Amino acid sequence: MRVDVVSVFPDYLEPLRLSLIGRAVARGRLRLGVHDLRAFTHDVHRTVDDAPFGGGAGMLMTPPPWGEALDHVRAEGRAQLGEHVEPHLLVMSPAGVRFDQAMAEDLAREPWLVLACGRYEGIDDRVLTDAARHHRVTPVSIGDYVLAGGEAAALVVVEAVGRLLPGVLGNSASVVEESHSEGLLEAPAYTRPASWRGLDVPDVLTSGDHARVARWRRDESLRRTAARRPDLLGGRSAADLDRHDLAV
Ligand code: ADE
Repeated sequence: MRVDVVSVFPDYLEPLRLSLIGRAVARGRLRLGVHDLRAFTHDVHRTVDDAPFGGGAGMLMTPPPWGEALDHVRAEGRAQLGEHVEPHLLVMSPAGVRFDQAMAEDLAREPWLVLACGRYEGIDDRVLTDAARHHRVTPVSIGDYVLAGGEAAALVVVEAVGRLLPGVLGNSASVVEESHSEGLLEAPAYTRPASWRGLDVPDVLTSGDHARVARWRRDESLRRTAARRPDLLGGRSAADLDRHDLAV
């Protein structure tokens, strides 16, 4: 997969060179391009913002640098991937479609993502309309809160997508069994020592009975989801879901 990120703070994306994602980049499983939006300005102040038409607080990002930056990234990517390939542009915005594990899984199947990081009050909307003349454009929000800019959101999206790419995680079962992959939170987990500060690991986990362990994990997963994220159960109670399990 190829991923390009456009930002006025390219250094903000440096953590993508570390850890799991950094290894994927170093091994070429993820081709990462980070681009400085200000490289596409032409005035001495390298201006990227202006006051909004119609008034209102704060500044907006002006279209010309974004247009040039996105044209440049598109040309560079097509030269590498082939002229028939188009990117999917993700515009980081608190006004976007909510990012979740299902979206991460969909995005992980795409050949090329471009992430646009807005600052200030966001990006002039014509930038999205213009880009949509060539390829898909999706405004993406990582949650219902407002960040100072899209960079932290881009880190979240690249990490969540990148770890799903083939060969990035050592053990692909860990992707299948993790929180959110089945719409539920994962059950609590324990490792050695079996007893620590007077706290013992649940007996079932040391029983060696795989069917009982699976049943226990499912029950705990339902209980935890009902307590912490009842919204994920879609109005059904944990007891209902449990009855459904026993019927199948
Ligand atoms: N930029 C500012 N807040 C954001 C959010 N919640 N998600 C994505 N990008 C953002």
